Amino acid sequence: NSPKPHAELILAWYDRHHRELPWRVSPSSAKAGKSADPYHIWLSEVMLQQTTVQAVKPYFNKFLSLWPSVNDLAAAPVEDVMAAWAGLGYYARARNLKKCAEAVAAGHGGKFPDTEAGLRALPGIGDYTAAAVAAIAFKRQAAVMDGNIERVVSRLYAIDAPLPGSKPLMKAKVVELTPPDRPGDFAQAMMDLGATICTPKRPTCALCPFRDVCLAFAEHDPERFPVKAAK
Ligand code: ADE
Repeated sequence: NSPKPHAELILAWYDRHHRELPWRVSPSSAKAGKSADPYHIWLSEVMLQQTTVQAVKPYFNKFLSLWPSVNDLAAAPVEDVMAAWAGLGYYARARNLKKCAEAVAAGHGGKFPDTEAGLRALPGIGDYTAAAVAAIAFKRQAAVMDGNIERVVSRLYAIDAPLPGSKPLMKAKVVELTPPDRPGDFAQAMMDLGATICTPKRPTCALCPFRDVCLAFAEHDPERFPVKAAK
C-alpha cells in the first residue's frame, strides 16, 4: 500500500469535518451537482479578509437580504452599502466592493469572469480574492494563499526559510498539492484546518489528517513554523 497523496488525506478530512458556513456548498451537495454562487463567494471572501468567520456571518446574511444579486449591489447608493458595512471595519473594502459590483454589472452583464486573470482585472480584487473565487466558484486550479494556508504548508514541509521570502516556495508547494478535481474544496479544507487544528499556538496535531506526513510534527516542534524574518 503506497501512502495516500496529501490532497486525498485533507479532502477526506474535509468531507467529514468541514464547517457549515452560509456561503459554502457542502462537499455532499457539490457531489449532487450544486455549485457555489460566484457573488456569494466573492462577497464572503472580501468580508473574511480582515475579519473572523463568526463576525462575518450576520453581515453576509444582511447583505444578501438587502442585495440578492451583484446587480442589486451595483445599483445601491454607496451610503447604504457603507451603512450596512458599519462594524466590519476596514471601510476601504466596502468602497471597493461597490466599485467591483459596478464593474461586474456594467462591464460583464452581471456575471463574474470565470478565470483567475479575469477576476484579478476587476477593481478591488487582489491575488487572494481572485484565486479564491476562481477555485471555489469556478473550479479553477488556482493556488489560494493566505495566512492559514502558509502556516499549514510551512509545517507540512518544515520550511526553514523565513517569511516573507519563503512565499514563492510555499506557493509552489500549494500549486503542487492542489487537486485538479476539487481545487475549491482543497483551499477551503486548508483554511479550515489552519483555523481549527493547525493553529498558531498549541496545534491539535493528534486530530490532524497530515499527522503521519507532517515534517514539523515529526520534528516535535510545529509552533516553530512559519519562520519569520528577524525584525
Ligand atoms: N477564510 C477566508 N475564506 C475562507 C473560506 N472560504 N473558508 C474558510 N475560512 C475562510
